[in-house]
Amino acid sequence: MAEGMKVVLIGGSVRPGNYTAMALALAADELGKRETAYEMVDPATLSLPFPGVNPDSKDARELRERVAEATGVILATPEYHGSFSSVMKLVIENLGFPSALAGKPVALLGVAAGQIGAIKSLEALASICTHVGALVLPGAVSVAGVQKAFDREGRCVDAEVEKRIRSVATNLIEYARGSICPRIALEAMVRGATGEMRG
Ligand SMILES: Cc1cc2nc3c(=O)[nH]c(=O)nc-3n(C[C@H](O)[C@H](O)[C@H](O)COP(=O)(O)O)c2cc1C
Repeated sequence: MAEGMKVVLIGGSVRPGNYTAMALALAADELGKRETAYEMVDPATLSLPFPGVNPDSKDARELRERVAEATGVILATPEYHGSFSSVMKLVIENLGFPSALAGKPVALLGVAAGQIGAIKSLEALASICTHVGALVLPGAVSVAGVQKAFDREGRCVDAEVEKRIRSVATNLIEYARGSICPRIALEAMVRGATGEMRG
């Protein structure tokens, strides 16, 4: 069990029936199996403004707050035109400057219809996440030919792909357990039950 941890998962496709959400659901399922609290963010349900326009809109503010409160984040993107989606970029633009991602461990997942997978998307996304100060974890997972890996109901029909997608969640849990949770536990000990610093 990953006590006190909370993971926010954000999908970068708003296409009805998108494969990004199917892959992300597997990562979420793995978090659940490992008793790790999580929250799914679907940008299709948000009204995110373009950069520089109304940055304090309710949805933008709530998105920033949800990410700021997370122990770690999983970002999943489709490969669109050789890069990550504009939806994912809009999410990142709405995470503020400085970004709510700064200092957060971030695990990446990319899906693509094409044979080379989402490598280009993941490289570009990792670069931008690093730029805003996120701790991008190694082991990003790219799924090629994604439409063959899932059936119409969204079930993964490729055991190897499923294992790799689930590893996105386990990598994040293991990193947080090893590097973030000890810090949280230590801080709680130092602050004591009242929340005031001791000594
Ligand atoms: C605008 C757009 C651009 C796309 N560009 C690429 C691409 O460059 N390479 C690729 O492999 N697939 C590309 N695809 C296919 C997506 O990778 C495919 O739809 C896949 O299912 C992931 O997207 P989804 O999560 O929206 O389903 C593109 C799809 C769209 C809608």
